[in-house]
Amino acid sequence: VEKKSEMSLTQPIRALLNVEDYHQQAKGKLSQMTYDFYSTGSDDQLTLIDNQLAFRRIKLRPKILIDVSSHSAINSISCQTQLLNSTMTISFPCIIAPTGLQRLANSEYGELATVRAAVACSTIMCVSTMASIGMERIAEEHREQIKTNYPQSTSQLWYQLYVFTNRQYTQRLIEHAERCGYKALVVTVDVCVIGNRECDIRNPFSLPEGIQAENLIDDKSSDFAKTYRQAPIDASLSWKDLKWIRSITSLPIILKGIIHPDDAREAVKHGVQGIVVSNHGGRQLDTCQSTIDALPDIMDAISGEHHQIDVYIDGGVRRGTDILKAMALGAKAVLIGRPVSWGLAVDGMQGVRNVLDILKKEFRVAMMLCGCQTIDDIRKNNLLVMNNNS
Ligand code: FNR
Repeated sequence: VEKKSEMSLTQPIRALLNVEDYHQQAKGKLSQMTYDFYSTGSDDQLTLIDNQLAFRRIKLRPKILIDVSSHSAINSISCQTQLLNSTMTISFPCIIAPTGLQRLANSEYGELATVRAAVACSTIMCVSTMASIGMERIAEEHREQIKTNYPQSTSQLWYQLYVFTNRQYTQRLIEHAERCGYKALVVTVDVCVIGNRECDIRNPFSLPEGIQAENLIDDKSSDFAKTYRQAPIDASLSWKDLKWIRSITSLPIILKGIIHPDDAREAVKHGVQGIVVSNHGGRQLDTCQSTIDALPDIMDAISGEHHQIDVYIDGGVRRGTDILKAMALGAKAVLIGRPVSWGLAVDGMQGVRNVLDILKKEFRVAMMLCGCQTIDDIRKNNLLVMNNNS
């Protein structure tokens, strides 16, 4: 045993070159309970696994002999992406997905570390209703970082909303987010009940002392904050409630958790500004279709609609080539959940920043190797071979 620990002390720290390296490093750092909370899915975790495998099943057929030297410019503009009718620009098409309770991964800073990385990398952070730092404090940090350290940053904040049975309380959350300067409302629609996450039941998952869902604690009439699992998300939420949400806010509304093409069409009809094709990272309905497999039918379903919306996708994005494939199928951008948690657990703000930089670099290389000068070329170049069973 002694020999083994001696060896591990003298071994050089392995360079963290990709998202999986961050995953493995984070695994060694987190408690079993926290690691399981982040990494696992529901039931047999088939959707969780397939989200990643489905990206791997799609093959690329690159175009060659195209001048892609524009990518060599420092801070290459070729990856910049416009969102929501060009009202927002991000440095590459990758957004930080809402994940709750980030102080579980980094107890000192949690969401504050993530927001700093989002500003440094000029991307969007979507802040969860279940954040372990108050939404006002995160917004303040966002403003402060731009002002003091990154005046050129085009980063923005979005607010992810769970609609609770207590509608007055939900309304207060929306109004508060708008007042704090959040620029879009991402309404999560795939959690009418929490998925059956057996690892969290076995461990069992519980909130460590001092960490809680900070946005929920001012509601003295309920015990939302006491345990994440008991938060009474409203199972009666339906399409008609979108009108109610619209009446409260003028922010763009993005529905997160769409898989069925009929629902995508319905979302367009209801006048939302965007959807996120998502199965909640395999944490909700198991055996749900993987997101990248769901994307083509969704794009088909809404292609003829007059009102154009942004289609985003998340679940299983771990490589720059995954981002390229999502874009080739029509997504505006991807969101990443767990990769951010791994970065946060390994090295706080710097870890999240590294994860984003790694994905950006991989994406840029993939674009160049596929002969794409601009983001628009990714769709035009007809790069994908689907379902070739290899
Ligand atoms: C999530 N996700 C999530 N989604 C949401 O709308 N609100 C939330 O509070 C959370 N919280 C959350 C916690 C943890 C630990 C995970 C792993 C995920 C889902 C998240 O936004 C996103 O859909 C998935 O994480 C995307 O899949 P990948 O990138 O993790 O594979």
